[in-house]
Amino acid sequence: MSNRKAPVDHPILPLMQERWSPRALTNTAIPANKLLTLLEAARWTPSASNIQPWGFIIDEAGSASFEQTLTYLKPGNLPWARNAALLGIALVNENRPDGTRNPHAEYDVGQAVAFLTLQAQQEGLYVHQMAGFLPEKVHEHVGLPEGWRALTMFAIGGLGDAASLPEEMAQRETAPRVRKPLAEFCFRAAWGKAL
Ligand SMILES: Cc1cc2nc3c(=O)[nH]c(=O)nc-3n(C[C@H](O)[C@H](O)[C@H](O)COP(=O)(O)O)c2cc1C
Repeated sequence: MSNRKAPVDHPILPLMQERWSPRALTNTAIPANKLLTLLEAARWTPSASNIQPWGFIIDEAGSASFEQTLTYLKPGNLPWARNAALLGIALVNENRPDGTRNPHAEYDVGQAVAFLTLQAQQEGLYVHQMAGFLPEKVHEHVGLPEGWRALTMFAIGGLGDAASLPEEMAQRETAPRVRKPLAEFCFRAAWGKAL
């Protein structure tokens, strides 16, 4: 377990309080049944009209294709994410089954990754999501159907040692965890009206 529990102002589920996004990850293999449990959690995410516009491509450390998947990452993410047990690509289908654009598709995929993330936490694993990757490169190599696009990537692994990271990353790994106060983004009845 991490020692980086969120310093909450109001109580939340312990699983959420303990979740954070480490860069120091271990590549201990994730058993197949655990991996399926993570993906099952994503499967049971709610979505607009139950369209389920998400897709996942995963690749485990040690597989022949893992080095290829690493090349999709931007340089800032590569040094730490290469130590993960698994890399994933979260995909979105931007179209509804009737061919019209689904304006809630991205929202739904974000929720699916959140479900997966919390299930991972329950399994003793950590998820670190990444926008720092090259979607064009993913599209070139993974053969997505029409209407699908790579939205984010994520790394999953056990919790590693911050000291194993380059100095600047190690510092960020142990910096205080911060969030905006509720009063800055939660209002009653109208924007700007205090709760
Ligand atoms: C959509 C998304 C994209 C992110 N992209 C990156 C990234 O490219 N590289 C990185 O190191 N962290 C990335 N993060 C992690 C965030 O920086 C992190 O979630 C945020 O600082 C809050 O920290 P916490 O998750 O530990 O609470 C991303 C998170 C999300 C949700």
